[in-house]
Amino acid sequence: MHVKEDAVAERFVLARRAAREAGALLRSRLGSRMHAWAKDVRSNLVTEADTQSEALIRGLIQASFPDDVIVGEEGGPSAGNSGYRWLVDPLDGTVNYTHGYRCFCVSIALQWEGRLTFGVVYDPMADEEYAAQRGGGATCNGQPVSVSPVEKLEDALLVTGFPPYRPDDPNDNTKAFLAFFPRAQALRRDGSAALDLCYVAAGRLDGFWEPGLHAWDVAAGIVIVTEAGGRVTGYRGEEVRVDGGHIVASNGRIHDAMLAVLAGCG
Ligand code: IPD
Ligand code: CA
Ligand code: CA
Repeated sequence: MHVKEDAVAERFVLARRAAREAGALLRSRLGSRMHAWAKDVRSNLVTEADTQSEALIRGLIQASFPDDVIVGEEGGPSAGNSGYRWLVDPLDGTVNYTHGYRCFCVSIALQWEGRLTFGVVYDPMADEEYAAQRGGGATCNGQPVSVSPVEKLEDALLVTGFPPYRPDDPNDNTKAFLAFFPRAQALRRDGSAALDLCYVAAGRLDGFWEPGLHAWDVAAGIVIVTEAGGRVTGYRGEEVRVDGGHIVASNGRIHDAMLAVLAGCG
């Protein structure tokens, strides 16, 4: 038992270091002329900054824990049999990044035998590090954070995101956006799912929903919101799937109201 706790603690320290170093790299390259490639559709981009950030994080993990699996957005999964699996988004908010819109982050999470163990999200422009270990509470720059006290949807500031646009995409979010619009106090779309989740954890936003996300987008944020006292589920209130899908995260108090709105969208 102690051996495993120590092993997780060592990885937590490394994750925080890797997120800060990768974030510093992103910050240093912001605004430099950099080519952005569309992976498939025009809003699904990858830049040199994404790949350099991922290489930095992979290098740090592999140097210390060569038998861990690393699932990075840009590099795919690596092999390993230690039971540990890292979920890495080296730059969440690439479209923002290419425009110099200062809402992006690095997101790193760890699973042990399939169970989420910790999450770290670093926002290099605000110099804010959100971190949480299962059972240990959530922090921002080392200070405890907790979700908002807002009780009603009509008083809630909600945030969402849209998957890269594809014609006939079953994950089209426009219907849900229109359904929430008259019911919430206001809606936002900031362009970084990992940071959206951290803002819910910190009580700056009251709820978040988005369809069709990937494990690297949400894994760290799920731990951080949960440890901040919030609730995270799928669209029907079911246990959230770490390996992607539809996600609702909230302060808990408005969660059922959010699920009811989503249920009405079919
Ligand atoms: C994207 C961001 C965005 C969300 C998209 C994601 P990326 O991730 O999290 O907020 O709406 O669905 O793909 O591509 O910038 O890492
Ligand atoms: Ca992402
Ligand atoms: Ca990314």
